[in-house]
Amino acid sequence: MKTVSRIDLLRKSIGQARSAGKSIGFVPTMGFLHDGHYSLIDRARRDNGLVVVSIFVNPMQFGPSEDLAAYPRNLPGDSSGCMKHGTDLLFLPQEDAVYPKGFSTSVEVSGISETLCGKSRPGHFRGVATVVLKLFNLVQPDRAYFGLKDFQQFLVISRMVRDLDLNLEVIGCPTVREPDGLARSSRNVYLTPEQRRESCRISKALFQARDDVKKGEAQAINIKAMIEKHITLIPDSRIDYISICDADSLEELEKIDRRAVVLVACHVGKARLIDNILLNP
Ligand code: PAJ
Repeated sequence: MKTVSRIDLLRKSIGQARSAGKSIGFVPTMGFLHDGHYSLIDRARRDNGLVVVSIFVNPMQFGPSEDLAAYPRNLPGDSSGCMKHGTDLLFLPQEDAVYPKGFSTSVEVSGISETLCGKSRPGHFRGVATVVLKLFNLVQPDRAYFGLKDFQQFLVISRMVRDLDLNLEVIGCPTVREPDGLARSSRNVYLTPEQRRESCRISKALFQARDDVKKGEAQAINIKAMIEKHITLIPDSRIDYISICDADSLEELEKIDRRAVVLVACHVGKARLIDNILLNP
């Protein structure tokens, strides 16, 4: 595995791989890698001749009162994990290379960026779309891998790629969970042991939602009430949203009569946790 920080060196390595006829798979991350990230790298490894992983904690997607400074980091662990999972090229750009002085361009995917997490985190998806477009331009991948755990992010990136005719395939990969069901997240380290134990109520409620819909429940309001009841039991929790949406447009649904997704965001202590589950009525 080769590790590069400089953009010219990244381009050189990628150019060589492309000349050798290799397809390029790309996994953008913010580091503190766990099995969720590694599942994307494994998939990229299976599909491509060259696997590129980036680690960059992107200031542009954090709000002023968010956890940018505290965001967990573990470069030695990440590096050895990437190597174990078959990464060819690890890209660690410096902030001033990504955002040189005078940087003044951004990408806005309107509509689907404005609901749910976009409402509670204004500017967040502008930061995500901008950095991801930039990374796509640097890496020029054939395929890029995103976790469905960040379902809205996956839709925003897919829409950007479609709207701007970017020549790559966006691949959504299933959410990787802890044995008790909690979605794996770099932010789970913020939880106290008790909060951690109780946070599995989020995924349990989502699994229950899927089962209820399978059994015929079609009223979003009933599903949301059930989920709220579960999550309220988690100590130090505060619900940001519980939403049932059309799985393509993110339009809020009252009746679950098509492919839908239940999305949850809640604060538990210092952590903001998100999770979702797809519903096929
Ligand atoms: P980060 O939170 O590090 O996540 C990087 C990728 O890993 C994202 O595509 C995310 O959806 C995926 N991922 C995280 N937890 C997962 C899990 N439990 N199961 C499956 N996939 C999971 O998302 C970002 O970074 C940033 O916004 C980024 C896209 C890198 C732009 O800065």
